Amino acid sequence: MEFLWGTATASHQVEGGNYYNDWWLWEKRGKIKTGDSSDPACDHYHLFPQDFQLIKFLNNNAYRFSVEWSRIEKEEGKFDEREIEHYREMLKELERLHIVPILTLHHFTIPIWLSEKGGAENPDFPRYFSRFVKKVVPAFKDFVKYWITINEPVVIGVMGYLFGDWPPGVKNFSRMSKVCRNLLYAHREAYQAIKEQSPSSLVSVAHNMQNFYPSSAWNPIDLVLAKTIDQYYNFSFIQTLIDGKIRRPFGRGEFDPSLKDTLDYLGLNYYTRVHVHFGFKGFREVKKPGLKNDFGWEVYPRGIIEILTRLKPLGKEIMITESGTADSEDRIRPQYIKDIILWIKKAMEEGVKIIGYMHWSLMDNFEWLEGYSMRFGLFEVDFKTQERKPRQSAYIYRELVESSPL
Ligand code: FCB
Repeated sequence: MEFLWGTATASHQVEGGNYYNDWWLWEKRGKIKTGDSSDPACDHYHLFPQDFQLIKFLNNNAYRFSVEWSRIEKEEGKFDEREIEHYREMLKELERLHIVPILTLHHFTIPIWLSEKGGAENPDFPRYFSRFVKKVVPAFKDFVKYWITINEPVVIGVMGYLFGDWPPGVKNFSRMSKVCRNLLYAHREAYQAIKEQSPSSLVSVAHNMQNFYPSSAWNPIDLVLAKTIDQYYNFSFIQTLIDGKIRRPFGRGEFDPSLKDTLDYLGLNYYTRVHVHFGFKGFREVKKPGLKNDFGWEVYPRGIIEILTRLKPLGKEIMITESGTADSEDRIRPQYIKDIILWIKKAMEEGVKIIGYMHWSLMDNFEWLEGYSMRFGLFEVDFKTQERKPRQSAYIYRELVESSPL
């Protein structure tokens, strides 16, 4: 199989006009730091044919994007065939251009009607998600081989139910754990629904991983803290989907055979590493000197091989479903791309099976709480005119793909 070279986007961040999801309400409540609106974002909903030409410009053979649940099921149980058709049009156009789609079914946003019923915390969430998935799979399955059920399930739990920065704004450890546990089952439901209708499909989650380092290597408490967070954040969720054992903090080690073997490959989102410290006020992140991106995240491309090496024993093929950096001036990104691809190549030489790399992101877009202030695009977007301009990084990525170092 040819290595998949691509970029990634998410519906709410690029489409515009998503008035029926929980993030739209969050925005209306004034939660976006910059006051920016997600409408019209990149207007990718209408401009996708042009944007696919950008993908061609990059010489890519793949594109990861998401369908917007709240468009398709605006009202509970009523599915909008025109919206399903819209995504079929996108898939058809990708096929015509020989671009392999990697399709995400849930990327952070949920329909308002479902958020009013408690969203991901509702014990019926897996059932609601499954009903949606069963509805759309028949329409998309002829075009799609690689599926992502849920983007960053643990991040949904942490940001929405532990830190409370994202909807629904809850700060409660046990509710976070409960949500993640629910998402394990939501994934299983979607996995089964896809495989029933399309057995040759390959299904995963897109799982965010970060390297957690103790703030000082000789502080035993920090060491334990880093190890625990590493297990909870990086490993518990995906290990459960491999062997069916529901680990802490999502369970107590109980075995549920229905969760076992529900990952056909592993989608990995990698951005940075974090140093952690446990002090008087509890857990906190410690910023160390070193190169930072616009977000303040340490630029640490080498971290990807540290993670990939640790994933090797899981025995799954891995697709890098996201990696990138916030850099409006494109000062850091060119080197970041070169380095990240180098480390991926090194990991492959060491025997890690990697099937693709999706750079986050094709173009600047609506970066959740940060609005348009964080620029991740290979293409710069002027949000007033909708003009896209290649950054130097776009040329670099394209050259790397052309010379195919993998
Ligand atoms: C990831 C998200 C993606 C984007 C990048 C910067 O955690 O999946 O939507 O916001 O971070």
